[in-house]
Amino acid sequence: MSRDDRRSLVAALRPAQQLAFGRGEYVEQESFVRASEALALAARAGIAPGVSVLDLCCGVAGPGRFLTRKLGCVYLGVDSSESAVAVAAERARGLRCRFEVADVPPLPSGTFEVVLLLETLLAFRDKAALLEEVARALHAGGRFAFTLEEGLPLTEAERARMPAADTVWLTPLDQLHALLERAGLSVGWEEDWSESHGEVAAALVDAYAADSTEIAARIGQRRLDDLLAAHELWRDWLATGRARKFALVAERLP
Ligand SMILES: C[S@@+](CC[C@H](N)C(=O)[O-])C[C@H]1O[C@@H](n2cnc3c(N)ncnc32)[C@H](O)[C@@H]1O
Repeated sequence: MSRDDRRSLVAALRPAQQLAFGRGEYVEQESFVRASEALALAARAGIAPGVSVLDLCCGVAGPGRFLTRKLGCVYLGVDSSESAVAVAAERARGLRCRFEVADVPPLPSGTFEVVLLLETLLAFRDKAALLEEVARALHAGGRFAFTLEEGLPLTEAERARMPAADTVWLTPLDQLHALLERAGLSVGWEEDWSESHGEVAAALVDAYAADSTEIAARIGQRRLDDLLAAHELWRDWLATGRARKFALVAERLP
């Protein structure tokens, strides 16, 4: 996708996303995380003025730019998409934000006080390799703050219904805890965000459907159909408990 296409995608979805998230909660996130939830997670992770933050899979870095503006952290965002990083960088002018285009793992060199990963752990089939790299990238006492798409692996029938199913790898909570422990990361805080994210998913389905003519004209019918299909599945899975969403902060043990 070119930079222009990425800008156009963000602009096409904005009215529906603003409506779905509600006042003050939309910050160009490509996820179900409300702005207030990003702030709450950041507070739990100790993100504050001058704290170094590595944001993995930042996308156009809506949450990252929002946290940097609000909290004054020193921010590095990484994403494999050149167009997402280009849009993130142009919108972050004047903020203490840097960006890299990279496929993770491995993570950028150096160590950080906080590693952030919002709404993308599910894209990593091999979570152990990623978590080892996260632990390596943290100072002792550093925090890994992230959201988890929790549940048993998708069945073949579920995979067939989910667009881009090769980026959807759910993990049961106890398995994730074991992987964190093995990587030397100790969970200090955990909260179930399923209800909130189920509400956001449902509101997004309604808002995209209401705005479908406009959106399809800008991004194409096929992409809109995939977007709606994925959001409908998440809405239903979160409502029934087939999948759950958690926010966690885990500390790097010395
Ligand atoms: C759902 S978006 C989340 C963006 C952002 N964290 C947010 O909450 O708004 C997922 C992003 O992860 C990126 N991504 C997926 N797998 C990746 C990988 N292995 N390395 C780097 N970026 C990746 C995609 O390019 C995409 O921009």
